[in-house]
Amino acid sequence: MSDRYDPGAIRFHWIMAVLVILVGVLGLLHDSWPKGTQSFWINIHALVGLLVWVLLMARFWWRSTHRPPPLPPEAGELSRRLARPVHLLMYLLLLVIPILGIVTFVWHGRSFDFGLFRVDFGVPKNRAVFGPTEDVHGYLAYTLFTVAGLHALAALWHQFIRRDGVLSRMWP
Ligand code: HEM
Ligand code: HEM
Repeated sequence: MSDRYDPGAIRFHWIMAVLVILVGVLGLLHDSWPKGTQSFWINIHALVGLLVWVLLMARFWWRSTHRPPPLPPEAGELSRRLARPVHLLMYLLLLVIPILGIVTFVWHGRSFDFGLFRVDFGVPKNRAVFGPTEDVHGYLAYTLFTVAGLHALAALWHQFIRRDGVLSRMWP
C-alpha cells in the first residue's frame, strides 16, 4: 500500500515513542528514588536519553531518503495545516532535550556508566551551568509530553471519529 509510512519509519516511530515514554517516566521519578539509588537511576535515564538521540539521528537520515506519504484526501484542512509544524516541533524537542540533559549531567560532575566502561569528562560540579539547563531540560520535556499527548489524541480522533485512515498509515 503506497499511502502508508514505510516499515523503517514505522519501526523508528514506535520504538522511539516507547523509549520517550520510558525516559520521561524515569525523569519524573528522579526525586522519588531512595537517596542511595538516585545516581543509578539518573544514569539509566541518561543512557536511555542518549539512545533516543542516536536513534533520532538515524531517523533523520532515514527520513531524508524515505519521504512520508501524502495525507489521505479524507483528512481535513486543519490536519493538513497542523501535521507538519507539530511533527517538526516534536523533532526539534527530541533534538534539544537530550543535549540539555547531557550538559546538566556532565556539569553536575556525573560520569556515564555504560556497564562495561565509564565515560568521565572530569568536569567539576557547577550549579551556575547545570541549574538553568536542568530547569529548561525539564520544561521542554513537559512541553514534549503535552505535544506528544495531543498528537496521540489527534491520531485516535482520526481513527475512531473521522475514520480517515491516518493512524493506519503509521500502524505496524
Ligand atoms: C528525550 C529525552 C529525555 C527526556 C524526555 C527527559 C526528561 C526528563 C525529565 C522529565 C526530567 C525531570 C525534570 C524535573 O524534575 O523537572 C529530567 C531530568 C534530568 N535529565 Fe532528562 N530527559 C531526556 C534525556 C536526557 C539525557 C540524554 C540526559 C543526560 C545524558 C538527561 C539528564 C537528565 C538530568 C541530569 C536530569 C536532572 C536529574 C536530577 O534531578 O538531578 N536527560 N529529564
Ligand atoms: C512520545 C510519543 C510520540 C512521539 C514523540 C511521536 C512523534 C511523531 C513524529 C515526529 C511523527 C512524524 C513522522 C514523520 O513524518 O517523520 C509522528 C507521526 C505519527 N504518529 Fe506519533 N509520536 C508519538 C506517539 C504516538 C502515538 C501514541 C500515536 C497513536 C496513538 C501516534 C500516531 C502517529 C501517526 C498516526 C503518525 C502519522 C501522521 C501522519 O500520517 O501525518 N504517535 N509521530
